[in-house]
Amino acid sequence: MDSILVPCLSETLKIYDLHSVRIQNRIRDLESIILSDKELNDDEVRSTLNKILDQMINEASLTDADRAIIFSREKFFTPGTVIGDYELNKRGLHLFRLTAATLIDYRRRATLGYLSSDITRAFAASGFWLCHNFLEPGQLQVVKNEISGIPNAENKTNKTLVFGKKTSNTLRSTMALHQDRKFLEILAITSGMAMDRDLQSHISNSAFIQTVVHQDSSQDVQKNIHRDTFHPAFKWWFFLEKTYMKKGPFVYGPGSNRLTPTRMAWEYRQSVDLTSEQVNKDSYDYGHKEGSFRANKDDLVELNVVPQPIEVPANTLLIANVQGFHCRGDAQPGTLRRSLHGSIRRLAPLSTNGL
Ligand SMILES: [Fe+2]
Repeated sequence: MDSILVPCLSETLKIYDLHSVRIQNRIRDLESIILSDKELNDDEVRSTLNKILDQMINEASLTDADRAIIFSREKFFTPGTVIGDYELNKRGLHLFRLTAATLIDYRRRATLGYLSSDITRAFAASGFWLCHNFLEPGQLQVVKNEISGIPNAENKTNKTLVFGKKTSNTLRSTMALHQDRKFLEILAITSGMAMDRDLQSHISNSAFIQTVVHQDSSQDVQKNIHRDTFHPAFKWWFFLEKTYMKKGPFVYGPGSNRLTPTRMAWEYRQSVDLTSEQVNKDSYDYGHKEGSFRANKDDLVELNVVPQPIEVPANTLLIANVQGFHCRGDAQPGTLRRSLHGSIRRLAPLSTNGL
């Protein structure tokens, strides 16, 4: 088994908990089944996962509605819900979802024939991919001119959405990017999606011109290092202009996409602490409780994550697996950072089919 490509290796996982042995054995079951060469359709995968889940949580009964949530991409640890249940997380529910989704992401890449790609290998090792000189120089200038009239906004709005517009004479070249084979191929390989109409429409609906107007870092939760969710998820930026320290570049912990035994034990502990009434959770911002776990300085040391600013020249496409730790870099308040930006996040991360 290729240790660069396989995203998690639980061999030395130690949780030090009453339920440890049962959890560790079930995580190993997940690995051996999902990583096996055996052909399994999505129904077979789901029924296998349900069996492993039942063994892991041992006698705690789940309704069909609970299972539907567990198999969804829901990430909020809301009290009173199955995801926010202390006892289930103590028995390993969060670790089950995290590991299963990550292994299934690997299996999908294998099925799609992406494992032999150099991009896949580099992306698996670091968690991000850079494509420099993405557009021809003439084309870059045309796109820059086209989007210069788009108003500043940090989030997607009707005015900042570019590909989703039905027709637009003023954005003709920018919209053509959406049909660009190189663009689609890179996004498909890095996100582990089939290069099909579903991916294209997903990109269409999510891409927009993002203008970050930097604020004081204490006002911007995007500047706290975090990982977005429990499953592999992807964000991309096409930087039309050079993005260097002064502009507050994207910051990423290289390799933090990988589920090391230390990371798995840390994730387990966060899920238990978050759902426990005994533990004070106020040391992290609200995103932590929403399932986008924050990492403080001690966490980064424990996880061996060293965040690095990713400075890029103009005309660079950057894609990152935001299951790894990242944040928005700091910059002088008032500085602008503009890019074409989008997100690729699967609807059913524990399923081997579809988006
Ligand atoms: Fe994020």
